Parts: sequence; C-alpha cells; structure tokens
Amino acid sequence: MQISNRHPSEAASPIAIVTGGSRGIGASLVERLHRDGWGVLFTHAQSPEEADALERTFADGGPVVRGLRCDVAERDAPARIFAAAEALGDPVALVNNAGITGGLGPLAELGDDELERVIAVNLAGPARLCREAARRWQGRSLRSSIVNVSSVAARTGSPNEYVVYAAAKAGLEALTRGLAKELAGANILVNAVSPGTTDTTIHARSGEPDRARRVAANIPLGRPGQPAEIANAIAWLLSAETSYVTGSVIEVTGGL
Ligand SMILES: NC(=O)c1ccc[n+]([C@@H]2O[C@H](COP(=O)([O-])OP(=O)(O)OC[C@H]3O[C@@H](n4cnc5c(N)ncnc54)[C@H](OP(=O)(O)O)[C@@H]3O)[C@@H](O)[C@H]2O)c1
Repeated sequence: MQISNRHPSEAASPIAIVTGGSRGIGASLVERLHRDGWGVLFTHAQSPEEADALERTFADGGPVVRGLRCDVAERDAPARIFAAAEALGDPVALVNNAGITGGLGPLAELGDDELERVIAVNLAGPARLCREAARRWQGRSLRSSIVNVSSVAARTGSPNEYVVYAAAKAGLEALTRGLAKELAGANILVNAVSPGTTDTTIHARSGEPDRARRVAANIPLGRPGQPAEIANAIAWLLSAETSYVTGSVIEVTGGL
C-alpha cells in the first residue's frame, strides 16, 4: 500500500470523534477542535442538557458539532458512534476521553457491579472503539489518529482511592503502545495523554467535589490542571505537527 502523510485536515470534512464531550476535559476539547477547524461528533451517557447547550454554542457557524447519547460501555457503541460520525463527514480521529473513577475508597470496599463498570467504561469500551477504528481505517492512505485519555493514576496506582480505575488506565496505556505498533504500517497514529489532577466534575462524581484542591499541595506546580490545559495536548496530537509521534504517553500533570 502507498502510505501518504497527508494530514486529516486535507480530507473534505474531517471529523473527530470525542467520547465524553459533554463536560470537563471533553467539552474543552470539543471547543478547541472546533477552533482548529475540525467537525466533531461527541458522546455522553447521561447529560443531555449539557450536550445540547454545548451543541448550541457552535450553531452560528464553522464546522459541524453534534452530540450523541451513547454509553461507551455498550457493545454496539462503536458501530453507533462511527455511523453518527460518518453522517457528518469523514471520521479520521478518535479520542477515547469518557471515563469514570468509581467511588473513592479501598479495594476491599468495592462491589462487583462498580468494579466491572469501571473496567467497562475505562478499558473495554475504549478497546472496542480502537478496534472499530482499526477495522475501518486500515487500507486508507490518509493519516488517522487515536488518542486515549489515561491518568497519572496508571503510574501511582491511587491506593485507597481507586486502584481498579488506575489499573484500567494502565491497561489503556499498554493498549496504546501495542496498538501503535500494530497500526504504524497503516499510517494510523495511536497515542495517549495522561492528565494529573484536573479541575472537573469527575471528583464530585467520585464523592469528593473538592478533591482537586485538596491534592493541590502535592502537585509541584501547586494547583490542579484546567481542562483546556489537557485539551491542548490532545489537540496537538491530532495536529499536522505530530507525523512522527506514535506509541507515546504524554503526561500533563503539573509535575506529579
Ligand atoms: N479530572 C481529572 O482529575 C482527571 C485526571 C486524570 C485523568 N482524567 C481522565 O480524563 C477523562 C475526562 O475526565 P473529566 O475529568 O473531564 O471527567 P468528567 O468531568 O466527569 O466528564 C466525563 C465525561 O465523560 C462522559 N462519560 C462518562 N461515562 C460515560 C460513558 N459510559 N459513556 C459515554 N460517556 C461517558 C460524561 O458524560 P455523562 O455525564 O453523560 O456521563 C462526561 O461527558 C477521563 O478519561 C478521566 O479518567 C481526569
């Protein structure tokens, strides 16, 4: 196969898929990608009001932005998400951003349902979406990109908070490195961004709304990250500047 290094922006209507785009890092990324000229299909599981409000932000012009209610843990999610993206244009980028930590606490207190849900949302769902992208994009000449959103927890293990989440993210990083090698010959770049503690609603969902500020004392830069600071790194990985970057995990942690 003839490999071309044409960037997705050269496609007629390049579409980036962003899972979990209704809030937090994902919403910030949707805004950034729209500014960069991408059409975006973002997903959410249970926040239709936030998703509709975000969609309306872009109604006045520029590339298309659409939200899709779709739980990434469902087996049919990849087919539904790619079909919705194809209805908008040419999907050439996938950002596996949707994630949940589960409740804070030691492993001994974690129930089976929550354990399985954390792995399904953070690892099995993204793996299925990566597989869907691999099946659809191999054989195309245009460069395409996958960015998986990991966590500093993959390195620290997050004891007494959420070790299964940390393990799922470590699995996602291993998937990133292995898949990058599998798909390098097909001109599909696979990378990850690993945020440190970032000021989003994920902490309220884990049971401690003020967690980001509590852990700030341990962060060398002295504060939690802002969603846009994580989105910047993801947007860079999707840009034309990263033609020689694959299999990398970029840490954006304030020095943690
Ligand atoms: N914030 C941090 O400190 C931090 C640190 C390291 C890594 N991360 C990672 O960064 C990513 C984004 O986190 P965030 O802090 O922005 O989280 P957030 O504010 O809680 O937003 C999470 C987004 O993912 C969506 N989502 C959750 N479960 C989903 C599912 N099953 N299917 C589809 N969408 C789903 C949510 O939509 P709904 O509300 O509709 O569920 C929401 O749009 C995650 O992968 C997280 O693990 C975050």
